[in-house]
Amino acid sequence: MIKAGIIGGSGYTGGELIRLLLNHHQTEIDFVFSTTRAGKPVSSAHQDLLGQINLLFSGEINPSVDVVFLCLGHGNSTKFLEENGFADHTKIIDLSNDFRLNSDSVWNSHTFVYGLPELNKSDIQNAQAIANPGCFATAIQLGLLPLAKAGLLNKDIHINAVTGSTGAGVGLSATSHFSWRNNNVSWYKPFTHQHLGEIGESLESFGNGVGKLYFLPNRGNFTRGILATAYTPFDGSLEKAQQLFKDFYADAVYTHVSDDPIHLKQVVNTNQCHIHLHKHEDVLLVTSAIDNLLKGASGQAVQNMNLMFGLEEQMGLQLKAGVF
Ligand SMILES: NC(=O)c1ccc[n+]([C@@H]2O[C@H](COP(=O)([O-])OP(=O)(O)OC[C@H]3O[C@@H](n4cnc5c(N)ncnc54)[C@H](OP(=O)(O)O)[C@@H]3O)[C@@H](O)[C@H]2O)c1
Repeated sequence: MIKAGIIGGSGYTGGELIRLLLNHHQTEIDFVFSTTRAGKPVSSAHQDLLGQINLLFSGEINPSVDVVFLCLGHGNSTKFLEENGFADHTKIIDLSNDFRLNSDSVWNSHTFVYGLPELNKSDIQNAQAIANPGCFATAIQLGLLPLAKAGLLNKDIHINAVTGSTGAGVGLSATSHFSWRNNNVSWYKPFTHQHLGEIGESLESFGNGVGKLYFLPNRGNFTRGILATAYTPFDGSLEKAQQLFKDFYADAVYTHVSDDPIHLKQVVNTNQCHIHLHKHEDVLLVTSAIDNLLKGASGQAVQNMNLMFGLEEQMGLQLKAGVF
């Protein structure tokens, strides 16, 4: 069994990881570290786990676990690793921004591989440390990678995406307060969202040039999921675009191209990314949908762990969409 440690256990992505790993046949949760809840039952923070887990949150780590998941906010992963050493054999999967960009990917003795299996599967399989992609970044890249690889992403790209409130983490803020968020929609960080860096680096990795990315993120009044749309000039037919995407994702276990328009409920509570293409005049519209906490975070982290340990990629990720 793989012994796993989770850091940041009382947060949203930490909670999702606990839920996934409890149902993973090859993994055993060794400890769940919490700065705020050490000594309290894990189910005191994640009440749905009452009766499913007897573990208490820990104020200490076991430095020789096989894998550690860092579920901390930006900057806190680096700080945590500076203060807490792990054994050489311990694989690290970081869910924060800290190591995603090429310029941040080498830290001390660690080289972090960008953990998007649809882009980097063989590097992930050989990695000792993973920088798990951002949630918006996952949805948007999966919608654009086939075009970038084919050299068809050289013109301006306009992106609009809406996320559920869990994307902002468990802490209460003015824009996650029920009274503000319910029956409400708003944009934030127009054209400057922090995920643009990692999106740009992945798209540029094919060496074909990439047009300017105009990204408008929106806050939706639902709890989980991301629906992203991107459009850009495209010379070929819809059929050509569909074939390009289907070929690119032929071996992907969680990214699928739908001939029908897509909606959030078909992916929420799953590790799937669904993509739909639409052509209008000379413009191609790409829609992609994911669950921000699963394919956008903890599900993708488990997918990466499976690849790193040579396990079946889907292990522990056979999930069921809510649908209704
Ligand atoms: N939410 C998403 O949809 C999503 C998607 C992709 C990536 N991410 C990234 O994943 C990371 C975790 O996200 P999250 O949504 O799980 O965040 P969260 O709900 O805010 O949880 C983060 C946890 O970090 C712990 N923590 C330790 N030191 C802290 C400090 N100095 N200040 C605040 N919290 C501290 C806290 O848990 P303890 O009190 O138990 O220590 C806190 O609950 C972030 O970097 C985020 O950007 C999130």
